[in-house]
Amino acid sequence: MSQVKIGLLGLGTVGGGTVNVLKRNAQEISRRAGKEIVVVHAAARDLNKPRICDTDGIKLTTNPAEVVNDPEIDIVVELIGGDGLARELVLTAIEQGKHVVTANKALIAKHGNEIFAAAEAKGVIVAYEAAVAGGIPIIKAVREGLSANRIEWLAGIINGTGNFILTEMRDNGTDFADVLAEAQRLGYAEADPTFDVEGIDAAHKLTILASIAFGMPLQFDKVYTEGITKITGDDVACAEKLGYRIKHLGISRRTTNGIELRVHPTLIPERRLIANVDGVMNAVLVQGDAVGPTLYYGPGAGDEPTASAVIADVVDVVRTMGAAVDNRVPHLAFQADAINNMTILDMGEVETSYYLRISAADRPGVMAELTKILGDRGISIEAMIQQEPAEGESNTNIIMLTHKVQEKCMNDAIAIIESLDAVAGEVMRIRMESLS
Ligand code: HSE
Repeated sequence: MSQVKIGLLGLGTVGGGTVNVLKRNAQEISRRAGKEIVVVHAAARDLNKPRICDTDGIKLTTNPAEVVNDPEIDIVVELIGGDGLARELVLTAIEQGKHVVTANKALIAKHGNEIFAAAEAKGVIVAYEAAVAGGIPIIKAVREGLSANRIEWLAGIINGTGNFILTEMRDNGTDFADVLAEAQRLGYAEADPTFDVEGIDAAHKLTILASIAFGMPLQFDKVYTEGITKITGDDVACAEKLGYRIKHLGISRRTTNGIELRVHPTLIPERRLIANVDGVMNAVLVQGDAVGPTLYYGPGAGDEPTASAVIADVVDVVRTMGAAVDNRVPHLAFQADAINNMTILDMGEVETSYYLRISAADRPGVMAELTKILGDRGISIEAMIQQEPAEGESNTNIIMLTHKVQEKCMNDAIAIIESLDAVAGEVMRIRMESLS
């Protein structure tokens, strides 16, 4: 059986997992690919660091350019992350006519348009299954499995660390900061954990999903991004009492006015399957006009789950090597000349329902003032709870769920509510989605 030679950039968690799975399942993988797949050259920052994989038979270097420039290599697998050096290496590999497999969401979200154009000009493939939702084959599902559909919307729990934190806050009443420390200790969080908790990691992934769902260029800078750092244990408990769970969702929806592209904490009905995706697991719900809703669930990170996606891409590339360029799945699902620039809706134009938590004085007339402000703007209340003031406190928490309203109208109402004498501090606002 002939061999395909892999050059690996990065021998950390995912690189190590990739070497391990390729070795352990070599026979099954080559039965599928029709060729033997071997890692022959790998780059790592520190060659003396302990590894999770056995590197026997692999030529090692600290210089990733050596791997990219190695004429023996057919496919470069980029697992170093970041979008500086990784971009240079990937563009060099393409320039040399090498196929690329990457797990790098930031790279694709920010430089994918440039990278895919370069790859198409050179007739090579850049595959990126592992960049979104780790081991879940969501890129393949959306790009290929759903290609009959006009996709209407998608919503995903696409950051495991954020989901782990919200799950722990709900199950154990733990505070945000304590759970984040635990997530870092367990190795779930990104090198810079603000990428997880401020929604940047999810925004990278949502950028990619939206492009392949709707056939538009990657537009990371247009994603509205809000993290989970302001969510309190109280919000989690109140949502629960009202029959909802708070999840950090990436949502993209096609509307008559444009495409919604947003990452933020979201209340969703607890009876939805996706509301029950807990811990570090990821899930993506996709609504197609023909198929209806489909849900994809699995581990969003980790050495072997991510290696599973990386190797599936390698197998896909191996199968298409030698095939006519026209017979390949387009990088962004739609033919390159059919990618359309679509308007991305400003967040102020987006319509959702809301959860509001207002700290207000517990005295006659306050509730009437609040409901009048909302009523005057056509904002209809769906449910309301007034909590008993805490021991020795004169303020009470008022929780309201509203019907759908445009965000700019809600912003206006919140600004007026916050200016009332009876209201203390900022109003906590969490968007709500029925996902039906
Ligand atoms: N930090 C990411 C997460 C890892 O928590 O989901 C996978 O992209």
